[in-house]
Amino acid sequence: MITSIQIQANSPSKMQIVSEPTPSVKENKFLELTGLNLLDGRFRLLEEVLGGKSSTCYFGRDENSGTDIFVKLCIFPRSDLERARFKNEIDYLKLNAGFNEIIKKTPSYIADGELFDGRILYLVTERVHGTLLSDWLRAHWSTSDLQQRLLIAYRVFGANENFIHDTAHRDLHVGNIILLPDEIDLYSATPDFKTIVLDWGQCYCGVLYQYSENDDDHMVIIHNGMGKELTTSFYNLPPETFQDQEKPNTGFNKYDSWAMGLLLYKLITGKDLFSFKNIGHYASSLRRIENIVTSGCFDIIKAAEQQGGYLLAEILIQLMRSNPSERMSISKARHALWFILVEQFYPTERSEILAFLKNPNYHTGCKWQHYTIEEFDAS
Ligand SMILES: Nc1ncnc2c1ncn2[C@@H]1O[C@H](COP(=O)(O)OP(=O)(O)O)[C@@H](O)[C@H]1O
Ligand SMILES: [Mg+2]
Repeated sequence: MITSIQIQANSPSKMQIVSEPTPSVKENKFLELTGLNLLDGRFRLLEEVLGGKSSTCYFGRDENSGTDIFVKLCIFPRSDLERARFKNEIDYLKLNAGFNEIIKKTPSYIADGELFDGRILYLVTERVHGTLLSDWLRAHWSTSDLQQRLLIAYRVFGANENFIHDTAHRDLHVGNIILLPDEIDLYSATPDFKTIVLDWGQCYCGVLYQYSENDDDHMVIIHNGMGKELTTSFYNLPPETFQDQEKPNTGFNKYDSWAMGLLLYKLITGKDLFSFKNIGHYASSLRRIENIVTSGCFDIIKAAEQQGGYLLAEILIQLMRSNPSERMSISKARHALWFILVEQFYPTERSEILAFLKNPNYHTGCKWQHYTIEEFDAS
């Protein structure tokens, strides 16, 4: 909250914006007594962020650089797993920093630390200024048209194609995705989706696990904790979550596709594909996936019949396959959306749709206006 603008006495031309902590932060004796209100003599906590699922979060200011920051705290972690998850997010953001130079998809890491013998951990990142996808759905969905909704799907899918091989975020709900205000260029060979994915504590990277050397490596603790407790939003949980994790083939590389299928349906129809009263009800509805998806396809075709509805319905079917090894990758779904958005490719014949979806970028059955295979191969 900006409460005043001061003119610095020693430099009359320079205006300094002074941010005062909100009452909730000012009156928080715990933060004051523990010194958490100013971390490392530099990161000032200003405003509590509500609405997160598990952490204690604040917006603040880096008093060294004057930039807006986001601070996440893990206070008295109750288990090695909780600590490992917090550290996992730090590791991932650091690892992804180089890839952000190519296409920015995660908040930039600034600092992290531990206080009181590791009983309090903190992570400082840039504060991303944009619109949380949950807010976009609430505020803009009803006034948007199908093209705008599919563009959001395209952006979110693109942001969720991980650069780090064999990585699943595992908690891709609409409160963990921020849309930046900028326009996106649909014709670029390295498209910037202007979409930032938050909250990486649950992410699982198979390669990192394989190369971990010690039992107390974060990824090993996360791997061993999998299937033993549910800490993510359970609406997004794909069916393999409820399988024996020790069985072979419960891979994670298509885990996030499931969440993207749910999001695609929500963006097109404005509704949730699954409705349930409690976890048990949800788990039992997973036994009727095929029926639920089939009825979802009718909704999609109704909402988008003349604008690629049949193709969108097939994308939903393939993203929501129960068996992860048969599930469509997010990247393929994103490419298919591109042809709907840019080429206005609206096939209705199932055989053509299936042939196209085998490999959208190499589909030869059509004459494209904007797309050339050579360009794609060169990128
Ligand atoms: N870097 C950021 N910039 C701006 N807002 C953020 C940032 N990271 C998180 N948020 C906001 O804080 C909320 C909680 O953060 P998140 O990392 O999702 O923690 P939790 O584990 O509590 O869900 C998010 O839903 C989002 O509204
Ligand atoms: Mg979150």
